[in-house]
Amino acid sequence: MHIEPMGPVLGAYIHDLQLEDMDDVQFAQLRHALVEFEVLVLPDQDLSVEGHMALGRRFGELTVSPFSPNADAAPELIVLDNDGASAKPLTDIWHSDETFRATPPLATILRARIVPRFGGNTMFASMTAAYESLSERMRVYLSGLTAVHGFGRFGELLRADPERRAMLHRVENENPMPHHPVVRVHPESSRKAIFVNPHFTARINDVPEDESRALLDYLFSRALMPELQLRVSWAPDTVVMWDNRSVQHYAPNDYLPQRRRMERVTIRGDTPTGDKPAQVFAPAGRGFAARHTGESVGTADSAGTSRRQFDR
Ligand SMILES: [Fe+2]
Repeated sequence: MHIEPMGPVLGAYIHDLQLEDMDDVQFAQLRHALVEFEVLVLPDQDLSVEGHMALGRRFGELTVSPFSPNADAAPELIVLDNDGASAKPLTDIWHSDETFRATPPLATILRARIVPRFGGNTMFASMTAAYESLSERMRVYLSGLTAVHGFGRFGELLRADPERRAMLHRVENENPMPHHPVVRVHPESSRKAIFVNPHFTARINDVPEDESRALLDYLFSRALMPELQLRVSWAPDTVVMWDNRSVQHYAPNDYLPQRRRMERVTIRGDTPTGDKPAQVFAPAGRGFAARHTGESVGTADSAGTSRRQFDR
């Protein structure tokens, strides 16, 4: 097994490895490489549908997407098959997969079956590198904040369709808008990553609405930095896996009406852990921030400062 880095920030090709024949030592190396490089690209994989699902299960339990088109015989397998007759895919927005879950996926494994002659790439952005690009001041500010996640475009689409609204209510009951840390600590590498995305993140908690909006827009813009990105071009039987805890992705809708057929499995992750709240102080008394959010900022401590607003 040979690992060839694809760029200075993220991504690696894995050569000389057939996923279906991998032994336990190779799997441990692959898993380690996934955490380190965040996106792995494995060309020319002779992988059956069963082999694809078995590969996912080596990482953990597979999940069934409530929104994506699942294979009839195997609901854990998402089949993304689009051409000129398809509705426009909702994938052209930066996101981590399924952060509307309390336990968003650990990783996603996507395999190309039919690729367009041009277009249909998948773009990735390292959110660990994005976090590391922030100023020290901003890191202190973000420390300890949480954000609410919802269904984003999926919810809008289903709400507009009376027949599918009942399904949306069921999924909403199963996934009641989780709160995730804005800065996530990776459970294996301990690296910090920005964990808000423009598809599913609705609002940052405990700050005024306009401050949440401005902050989210700024954090979303980090994924747009070309220096933090990787663009993967597909060929039939290329397999790409990404660490959903540390990258976001974007699939441009630039290939229709050509056909593109992909198959995907998604691996259940853990409950995201945030970084420890930094020692941030608000001015004492009921100033503008307190009036604006309708809460008290607490009483002054011996240093004449208050921590209440930031200590949750
Ligand atoms: Fe996705």
